[in-house]
Amino acid sequence: MNNIFGVKVMEDYIRMCHDGVRQGWHERNGGNLTYRMKEEEVAECRPYFKREPGQWVKMGVKAENLKGEYFISTGSGKFLQNVGLEPQNSICIVEINEAGDSYRIVWGLENGGRPTSEFPTHFMNHSVRKRVTGGANRVIYHAHTPYVIALTYVLPLKSEVFTRMLWKSATECCVVFPGGVGVVPWMVPGGAQIAKATCALMEKYDAAIWAFHGLFVSGPDFDTAFGLMHTIEKAAQIASIALAATGGKPPRQVITDENLRDIGRDFGVTLNEEILNYASDDDLYC
Ligand code: 13P
Ligand code: ZN
Repeated sequence: MNNIFGVKVMEDYIRMCHDGVRQGWHERNGGNLTYRMKEEEVAECRPYFKREPGQWVKMGVKAENLKGEYFISTGSGKFLQNVGLEPQNSICIVEINEAGDSYRIVWGLENGGRPTSEFPTHFMNHSVRKRVTGGANRVIYHAHTPYVIALTYVLPLKSEVFTRMLWKSATECCVVFPGGVGVVPWMVPGGAQIAKATCALMEKYDAAIWAFHGLFVSGPDFDTAFGLMHTIEKAAQIASIALAATGGKPPRQVITDENLRDIGRDFGVTLNEEILNYASDDDLYC
């Protein structure tokens, strides 16, 4: 290996960006990906770091449990479709300071730029997910998933309603996200308000839908986070097709609550009881 792109974590990160592009989730600069690096990965990448790191930049947010961490991030305004072609100009590695409130670029974005505009949101959500998963969570991924976005125009913007619709759209969904999916009402992207609202949901969910915007997921590794995004978006696609076919009326047959409980039992996963016990499916249809 004679450059940073031979380091496995960089290869995997770049591949995930490409996989999202192949799914059609990243028009223009839409979407962003951040990864909290392991110590050994930082050590592997360090020989390729800039001789002079960038200036410290205050984030306007602070997290005690992310002091001194290193993140790989997509650049703000950069196209994910260019990540594979020109990674050194599309992505960066940032170091967090000892106060946990500023970053500096130590590698990448060679033509200038800064981490994603959603970095403060990713950062605060990394902090929450690191805490609630005992350090296991390392990936935060945001994509403009068309069918999830479409559903936010037609379903009530409630976590219980979206989760039940998605669980009931394909048999194994409840195994992939047994805790459910949060829903954030429409907010301006990149601001403190959407960061806070998403953090509140990420205390209990590992995915949050942003109304009229897209999906925000977390996971311990690239495959798991990508798989969660993919599964939720595919369920939303099936739901959209079925709702369009019935004109929003209840379909002829559905996965029942009892079916969901049976899947949970046989697959050994605990489904979110609050969502299972949510009054009825009346909110799901016209
Ligand atoms: P960035 O280009 O700053 O990452 O913004 C893209 C996006 O999807 C904002 O929500
Ligand atoms: Zn976005």
